[in-house]
Amino acid sequence: PRVGVLISGRGSNMEALIKAAKAPDFPAEIVLVLSNKPEAAGLEIARALGVAAEAVPAKPFGKDREAHERALDAKLQEAGVEIVCLAGYMRLLTPYLVNRWAGRMLNIHPSLLPEFPGLDTHARAIEAGAAKHGCTVHLVTEGMDEGPVVAQAEVPVLPNDTEDALAARVLAQEHIIYPRALAELARKIRLPQAASHS
Ligand code: GRF
Repeated sequence: PRVGVLISGRGSNMEALIKAAKAPDFPAEIVLVLSNKPEAAGLEIARALGVAAEAVPAKPFGKDREAHERALDAKLQEAGVEIVCLAGYMRLLTPYLVNRWAGRMLNIHPSLLPEFPGLDTHARAIEAGAAKHGCTVHLVTEGMDEGPVVAQAEVPVLPNDTEDALAARVLAQEHIIYPRALAELARKIRLPQAASHS
């Protein structure tokens, strides 16, 4: 399947997905990166890795979030995208885009969901005195950071951990599980088609 990645910033998970998908046996291809932020560093990284990347700013659409999503979706359709990966995409989605991509949209979240949905997960995990923290790849549904879990990785919270140190430990795991989760979904989506040809 052809994959589109939505980002808003740094793009390190996007980079991990693009690099993993270059392996000859990887079951999906990253064909497009879109950002709601023109200044997102990830756009340049994607282009340097040979992937088409463009910004679709939300501003011209004002408060009409669905209109912005229709613009994003048009680009995805045009590129023949079949799976969407949210990778640090910092806008809440409306039911429009979620329903359109039901079962075919993944998100990565830096916590062991259902613990710590939302922002500032690392600081909150330290604050709560959690012994373990980590990251989750899940299918996107209408509730924020909800939806069936596809992959999870745990890291320890160390004594005197700082938010940055913990975030870096988690991020290293994000870069491992996101490509794995994408491969799993890609194989599942490909199966029914393969069967119909046999
Ligand atoms: C990651 O921690 C991801 O889990 C969260 O936002 C961050 C994005 O980082 N959703 P990057 O843009 O992939 O480097």
